[in-house]
Amino acid sequence: VVADDADIERVVVSDEEISAKIDELARQVAADYADVDSVLLVCVLKGAVMFMADFARALGRHGRPVELEFMAVSSYGQRTTSSGVVRILKDLDRDIAGRHVLVVEDIVDSGLTLNWLLKYLASRSAATVEVVALVRKPEAVKVDVKVRYIGFDIANEFVVGYGLDYAERYRELPYIGVLRPAVYSRG
Ligand code: PRP
Ligand code: MN
Ligand code: MG
Repeated sequence: VVADDADIERVVVSDEEISAKIDELARQVAADYADVDSVLLVCVLKGAVMFMADFARALGRHGRPVELEFMAVSSYGQRTTSSGVVRILKDLDRDIAGRHVLVVEDIVDSGLTLNWLLKYLASRSAATVEVVALVRKPEAVKVDVKVRYIGFDIANEFVVGYGLDYAERYRELPYIGVLRPAVYSRG
């Protein structure tokens, strides 16, 4: 087998930068939610799985207990022609009415997924809904979504790693990087 590392042209956000940023975000969130009894993290599968796991533990280290929920959603059609019509593959297990919800996303690209998700969560009567996203591509945004906590703004390049995939691969890489162009032409 060939390691997925070999397909990476350039690292955009390193392992160390990710850890340091998660700690910083967790400190900020712990402070902002200090007066709230309970915080419900909602992970958007599958991309946010790594971020969720590390962020939840960072919050714990900062003295902020949390509960974990998971949703899986998928846009119809190709990513490049994302219509913003989102299909729920896995819904929330519990009622979120009255809860303080913090959506945990790996990346805001066009913003269409989050835009849809925030409307959906608002319709479920949460007390508050905020978003923490590890990465955002400001140049790719098609719809403005309110994202309270952002780790990194990056250029409009296709990136993988730390949960982000290309055709379901590269999620296991510990950093975020740009794929070699040859990978796309390989089919
Ligand atoms: C990716 C990513 C975000 C979304 C961002 O998920 O993890 O959830 O796209 O794109 P947008 O801002 O243009 O909507 P994807 O649909 O690839 O599913 P996955 O998380 O299972 O990889
Ligand atoms: Mn996703
Ligand atoms: Mg994906």
